Formats: sequence, structure tokens, C-alpha cells
Amino acid sequence: MKVCWKILIVAPLFFLAHPTSAFPAHNDQPTIKHSSGHTCIGCVLVVSVIEQLAQVHNSTAQAAMERLCSYLPEKLSLKTTCYLVVHIFGSHIIKLLSADMNADVVCHTLEFCKQDPGQPLCHLYPPPKEAWKFALEKARHIIKKSQTLKYPRSDSDICSLPFLAKICQEIKSAIKNSVPFKDVDSDKYSVFSTLRGYHWRGRDCNDRDKMAYPGRRPDNWDAHQDSNCNGIWGVDPKDGIPYEKKFCEGSQPRGIILLGDSAGAHFHIPPEWITASQMSLNSFLSLPTALSDELNWPQVSGATGFQNSTSGIKEDSIYLRLWKRNHCNHRDYQNISKNGASSQNLQSFLESLSRNQLLDNPAIVIYAMIGNDVCNGKTDPVPAMTTPEKLYSKVMQTLKHLNSHLPNGSHVIFYGLADGAFLWDHLHNRYHPLGQLNKDVTYAQFYSFLSCLQVSPCHGWMSANKTLRALTSERAEQLSNTLKKIATSKKFTNFDLFYMDFAFQEITEEWQRRGGQPWQLIEPVDGFHPNEVALLLLADQFWKKMQLQWPKILGKENPFNSQIEDVFGDQGGH
Ligand SMILES: *[C@@H]1O[C@H](CO)[C@@H](O)[C@H](O)[C@H]1NC(C)=O
Ligand SMILES: *[C@@H]1O[C@H](CO)[C@@H](O)[C@H](O)[C@H]1NC(C)=O
Ligand SMILES: *[C@@H]1O[C@H](CO)[C@@H](O)[C@H](O)[C@H]1NC(C)=O
Ligand SMILES: *[C@@H]1O[C@H](CO)[C@@H](O)[C@H](O)[C@H]1NC(C)=O
Ligand SMILES: *[C@@H]1O[C@H](CO)[C@@H](O)[C@H](O)[C@H]1NC(C)=O
Repeated sequence: MKVCWKILIVAPLFFLAHPTSAFPAHNDQPTIKHSSGHTCIGCVLVVSVIEQLAQVHNSTAQAAMERLCSYLPEKLSLKTTCYLVVHIFGSHIIKLLSADMNADVVCHTLEFCKQDPGQPLCHLYPPPKEAWKFALEKARHIIKKSQTLKYPRSDSDICSLPFLAKICQEIKSAIKNSVPFKDVDSDKYSVFSTLRGYHWRGRDCNDRDKMAYPGRRPDNWDAHQDSNCNGIWGVDPKDGIPYEKKFCEGSQPRGIILLGDSAGAHFHIPPEWITASQMSLNSFLSLPTALSDELNWPQVSGATGFQNSTSGIKEDSIYLRLWKRNHCNHRDYQNISKNGASSQNLQSFLESLSRNQLLDNPAIVIYAMIGNDVCNGKTDPVPAMTTPEKLYSKVMQTLKHLNSHLPNGSHVIFYGLADGAFLWDHLHNRYHPLGQLNKDVTYAQFYSFLSCLQVSPCHGWMSANKTLRALTSERAEQLSNTLKKIATSKKFTNFDLFYMDFAFQEITEEWQRRGGQPWQLIEPVDGFHPNEVALLLLADQFWKKMQLQWPKILGKENPFNSQIEDVFGDQGGH
């Protein structure tokens, strides 16, 4: 649902961006007192991996660092950056690790982690046996003895170094381009996969023609070209009738649009990226693509996924089911979700929804803001939660926008909020991937570390405080009830409106019936998001409820599907 993607992008970057804050200031040098929670997590993560790689391979810290860099791909200059980080910080990290300092001590010593005045000291691992103060003093002493290296003095300087210019440029543009919401609707579709390309919405089939894009009603029955990109076009030579007319007329095609948060976009950090015992040359192959999709994997998500699941579960996404039901729906999907999205900020990217009221087919819009209205990282998260009144007002604005953009005959389905209390219940005494090797980091510790740094994606639920967890659940339920009330009382001209509970408990039970454990449905690295299996089970549950309660939303089975396959094969794929 929120923010965590920053951690990984930022981890290596902040190592580079804040080298000055990384060392005790000498008397004649100004100290740059800047440290953020993400920098600290990034450092602890990287140092932990180095330490554990050394342990797993019985090697020196130096060899472990080189091993880690050798695993990284060349793309996005990841490997180069890694060697550079080793060059700058390696000797300090080696000295500290060789003196048996753990990642918390190393990162505090290098000042990636800081204890601000009046704030608690944040640590992931159990505190060192000797008092913190002594451990830190000892560590600082070790560093002081080593010779000082020359570092650039500020964030902006770092990108002016010739050998870093390229990666700075690439990462900046990747981040900038990640919100490429252009004015012309057809320009929102792309022939590229990442940076909000076809991993996110149906692939464009003719980038030169603005009037050709997935989801539109066919132009002149697509006799001459595929104007709606569904792979069906041309004229049957036997009778002179356009295929699109023959196979799709009256089939009531429709698209699927998800208005979601990071759960909808499928936020995912593969555990093999941080698990030393499983790390190999293949571990990071997906890293460059994942980074340019903001660590989201919409192509395998429950709502709009179109690739085969990597988790081995056989359930299809909602989009694939709509396609199987009617092949005329091919490529008509849009994943309009964003990490951190909530009812309160949806407006900022709702414009990126692309649907022409006059030219396009109706759409099924799923509104799934399942947590960020109650989730934040504040020390006292309750005052920052959305109130039912605020939710009501923003949701009504959203619906007005949809009513003026969706073709008549569309459908909007609200998903209720999740009850995240299951996170603590299922995970708190299990080991986090960083803690599995030495059995020293549970999710309770991991959650508390994130909350201490005030970067928890959901302090309310990822907390040992039972009262707080209950308050968060209570607010989530109030907000769900507000959505339910809107769905039953409001009418719109261009769509009908439905409400469905986010029934995680039901899919947990389904998973247990199949012999699984509830914790296996949660992303292991962030301990927060539903994982791929959970998303596909949710899609399955969504579909079954639709079929039972409101089958007209899904449209009819197209009797020509097998003929479409015969003539057009995979319809151009995705
Ligand atoms: C680890 O390496 C050291 C030095 O190379 C060696 O003495 C020791 O036996 C090794 N331990 C294991 C468990 O392989
Ligand atoms: C997905 O899986 C099916 C059946 O398991 C297979 O036939 C198909 O080729 C796979 N598709 C892709 C894109 O891998
Ligand atoms: C897909 O989801 C992401 C979530 O990060 C969102 O930002 C994006 O707008 C969505 N879809 C498209 C087509 O951009
Ligand atoms: C929208 O479609 C419904 C039937 O689905 C129809 O009754 C209604 O008149 C249409 N509204 C407009 C404005 O075309
Ligand atoms: C638990 O959370 C509640 C609600 O935010 C708060 O009032 C209380 O002080 C917290 N208890 C502890 C021990 O932090």
C-alpha cells in the first residue's frame, strides 16, 4: 500500500547521496546533520546482507561485498554503483564487521542511522551485550584510526562526479517518467512495458495512430486495421464480412480498470534480494524492471495481471477471466494504482484513467483503496487517519469524475478496507527474512524498527499495541461502512454502483483448506502487503461473488471465442 518501494531504490542511492553524514565530523569540518529513516533502513539492509553473505560462505566481509556486487546486473549501472559503494565505504564496514559489530552499530557509527534528541534509539537486532554507548564509542574509535577518504560534500555534488553522472541521470529520469500522465488519451498507451507502459495498461498496437488504442469501439468494424488493439480485424474472404462484426457485435465488450493502491499494483520485493542463503547470480535479474515499475508487478496482479503467475497458483486475474469470457476484451485493462494511494489523494492521478465516453466500450471500475486511509507512519497515527466525513466528500468527487468520463453502461465496484489486524496476529513471532539465518529478527522487531524510524507503512496495525491495532481496525470498518452507504444510496447516470467487503478472512480460510498457512499470504519482506497468491485468491473470490450476485457486470460468454482463436491465434499477445 505505501512507501516501501523507496527503501530499495534509496538504499544504494543514499549510500551515495549522504556520504558526508556517514562519518564523524572532524573538528574543522561542518557536520551535515541529515538522516532519514529510509537511509537508515537502507544501510541496515545492505550491511546485514554483507554480514550474512560472509557467514553463509565463510568468507571475509571484503569477499562478501564483492560477491554481492557480482550478483547485480549491469543495467541501470547497478553493478558499477555497487563497486563504487564498496570503494567508498568498504574499508569502514570491513573493520567494523571484523570487530563483531552488528548492522545497527555499523549504521549508527557511519551515521546513516541517527538518534535524534528526545527520540528513542532505533535498532533492528537485539541491542549489543555491552551498553549501546560503549559499543558506539568502540566502533567510532576503530573508524577514527583509519585514514580518512575524500568524499563529496553534498547531495548535489555527488551527481557531478563523472562516474556517477550516468546512474544519477537514469534513476532521476526513471522516477520522473514513472508518472507520465499525458493529455491525449491515446498517448497513455504504450508499446513499452515498464514506466507505466503495458505492464500497467493494454499494449498499444499502433503507436502512430492516436485513434487506435485498447478499449475503443471498433472504427468501421476494423475492416482495414485494428483500431481497438484486440487483435481482431480484417475481412473474412469467404463472405466479405469484417471479423470484428462477425465475432464481436452484440458481445458487449468491456474493459477492467483498477483504481488502487500498492496492493492493487502488486508491490513486491522478492525475498531472494535480501536473503543471503538464497542469493545467486539469478537473484537480481528482475531488479532493473522492478525498479522501473516502482517495485510493483501489475503484470501478475490479481486485477489486471496478464502473465502467468510466478507463484504457481492456477487462478487467473480478473482481466484474464474477462478475456477468457469474451476474447473481444483482449488488452482492455488499466491499472490506475499508485503506491500510497488513498481516497484523499486519488484525485492527483485519477486523470490518468483513459476512457472516452463517446468512443469507448463501457468499463468495470474497481475502487480498491484498501488501507492507506488508516495507514501512516506517524508516532500517533490516529489523528492522521481519514474520517468518514472526509472519505465521503472525496469519494463523491471521484464518482462525479467517473460519471463524466465513463461510457454509459459502466459499473463501479467499491472494495471495503482491509482489516489489517491479521498482520500482527499471523506474523509477530515469525522470523523476518533478515532474521532467518541467525534467528534474531522477528516481525515484531522489524515492525518496531520501522515505527521507531517513523517510516512504517502502517504503524496502526504493525504495532505491538493492541489498543492501537483495535482503533485502526475500528476506523477501517467505519470507512468501509461509509462506502457501503454511498453504494446503496447514490445513483449515477453512466454507471451502477456496488460494494464488496475486502474479505481477507475468507481467502485465508480457502488457503487453509488447500493446506496453506495464513502467513504465506503476506509479502515476506515488507510484512504488510498481500502477496501474489493472496491477490489471485482475492480475484477468484471477487469473480465468484460477481457471478453469484451481479452476473450482468461480467457480460456474456462469447460463443465465437474458439473461432477467434482459430483465426487470430494469441491475438497478438500482450
Ligand atoms: C572458515 O574459514 C576459515 C579460514 O579460511 C577456516 O579455518 C574454517 O575452518 C572455515 N570454517 C568452515 C566451517 O568452513
Ligand atoms: C501460461 O501457462 C499456460 C498453461 O500452463 C501455457 O500454455 C502458456 O503458454 C503460458 N503462457 C505464458 C505467456 O507463459
Ligand atoms: C498502475 O498502477 C500504478 C501504481 O503504482 C499507478 O501509478 C498507475 O497509474 C497505474 N496505471 C497506469 C496505466 O498508469
Ligand atoms: C444509459 O444506458 C441505459 C441502459 O443501460 C439507458 O436506459 C439510459 O437511457 C442510457 N442513458 C443515456 C444518457 O444514454
Ligand atoms: C497504545 O495506543 C493507544 C492509542 O493510540 C495509546 O493511547 C496508548 O498510549 C498506547 N499504549 C502504549 C503502551 O504505547
